[in-house]
Amino acid sequence: MSNSWIPLLFLIVFSTCTTNSPATMECDAGDRAALLKIKAQLGNPDLDITGTSISGPVPVAYLAGATGLRTLVISDSKLAGSIPPSLAELPNLRYVDLSGNMLTGTIPPGLVHGEFRFLILSCNQLTGEIPSCYGGDDIDTVDLSHNRLTGDPSPFLFGITRPTTKIDLSWNELEFDMTGVMFPHHLRFLDLSHNRIAGKVAKSLMDVRLEHFNVSDNELCGEIPAGRFMASHGADCYARNRCLCGTPLPPCNGGL
Ligand SMILES: *[C@@H]1O[C@H](CO)[C@@H](O)[C@H](O)[C@H]1NC(C)=O
Repeated sequence: MSNSWIPLLFLIVFSTCTTNSPATMECDAGDRAALLKIKAQLGNPDLDITGTSISGPVPVAYLAGATGLRTLVISDSKLAGSIPPSLAELPNLRYVDLSGNMLTGTIPPGLVHGEFRFLILSCNQLTGEIPSCYGGDDIDTVDLSHNRLTGDPSPFLFGITRPTTKIDLSWNELEFDMTGVMFPHHLRFLDLSHNRIAGKVAKSLMDVRLEHFNVSDNELCGEIPAGRFMASHGADCYARNRCLCGTPLPPCNGGL
């Protein structure tokens, strides 16, 4: 398998040198660090090159032979272009973290597949809707925060039996009615802040023991459900909505 990684190495040398310093063809210190990290990990099932300055497209054309690859982490770098659909062809992939780059375009529909558990694409410039097939998988963590995603993810991301523990969709342009959404019981982290979510705060949240909860900066309205686990959420979690009322906010009677 290590043979299939060698073209990847060359691709990155080429692209970082040409994009960053075309005159001298010299790699900067960050590029060198990235290359050393990749070199050290050749043939491993996990590729983690966090915090290095890889620039240009995701080099997955060269990952095609890496069928054993389980983990792909290229975060806080300068990856640009779209997420290649060919990532869906790596059968053992279960952890993808491409956060903190400059990725554009839509999320490929087949990306979450097989054993997939962790999808972390936060802090990019991704657009379009969250692919509808994602809810069918036993996914643990979905962090798509700080992008420009649109549409209604509720039918497929939220289901009462799913084992998802973390959903962060904050800072997008999602539009849906939250009233009847059934949130997974296992959920411990839910951040939907800074979207265009309307309706009421979902009653299903009463049965979810959230350690982090935030629906601020949306268009929610009406009485906040009371009881069970709702008591642990402070007023900050509901800030800047259209017309929410009831504990921990002021009571609903009184003209609201
Ligand atoms: C909720 O989210 C908003 C917007 O993302 C953020 O400014 C605020 O600090 C968050 N509050 C809590 C309690 O997490």
